Amino acid sequence: MTFEGLDGTGKSTQLRKLAEVLRRAGHKVVETREPGGTVTGEKIRRLLLDSKTEGLSPPAEMALMFAARAQHIAEVIQPALDRGQIVVCDRFSDSTEAYQGYGRRLGSEKVLTLHRILCGNLQPDLTILLDSNPAISLGRARRRNQAATARIAGGPNQGAAKHSSDENRFEQQNRVFFARVHEGYRAIASRERQRIMVIDARGTPSETHRQILEAVERKLKLLSGVS
Ligand code: TMP
Repeated sequence: MTFEGLDGTGKSTQLRKLAEVLRRAGHKVVETREPGGTVTGEKIRRLLLDSKTEGLSPPAEMALMFAARAQHIAEVIQPALDRGQIVVCDRFSDSTEAYQGYGRRLGSEKVLTLHRILCGNLQPDLTILLDSNPAISLGRARRRNQAATARIAGGPNQGAAKHSSDENRFEQQNRVFFARVHEGYRAIASRERQRIMVIDARGTPSETHRQILEAVERKLKLLSGVS
């Protein structure tokens, strides 16, 4: 199962809440994220998200996303699925299609082809797409990352600040970029109606959580017995 959406839509919070409910229902759940999820993947994440990484070409950016993902599938996702566990992943290949395919204008075809070649075309059983107003969610993401960067800079180890990574590189893109990413997500959702549930994330976190539980129950029937 995967969570998708623009930065700042509350994905990580909602993923944690859902994982808790699934565990209470007796399932073994692996919570993970992309880019990242393995030691190598987290190194690639630092490189990709650090605003000090300059001049990365769009194809190189896409290749790094897939390198992290291929490692993640081999090391974490496939073994967990083989053990019968539920994997809940914060972002997956739909992010590459929305951000690199649409946002960076590389096109869907390249992303889908690389997904087939490098990821064995592994598809989630269900994708929750948190849909929100791009301006609102982006404002949230930027405030959060600036606060985190300020904590790094003002921390006890200030001398190390210039070597520490922030996660601002994508948030620094402009409104037009995020409008394209948003359009990309909508296009993917209408192509993949069976797999992707679009959830309106403009309400309170608990309203969004309730809608997610309904979608998960409707689609996967995983929650019987949980009140
Ligand atoms: P997040 O984990 O905080 O959502 O940040 C990850 C950032 O990386 C986010 O801005 C979206 C971006 N991203 C891509 O551009 N392509 C991808 O394939 C993935 C997984 C993430």
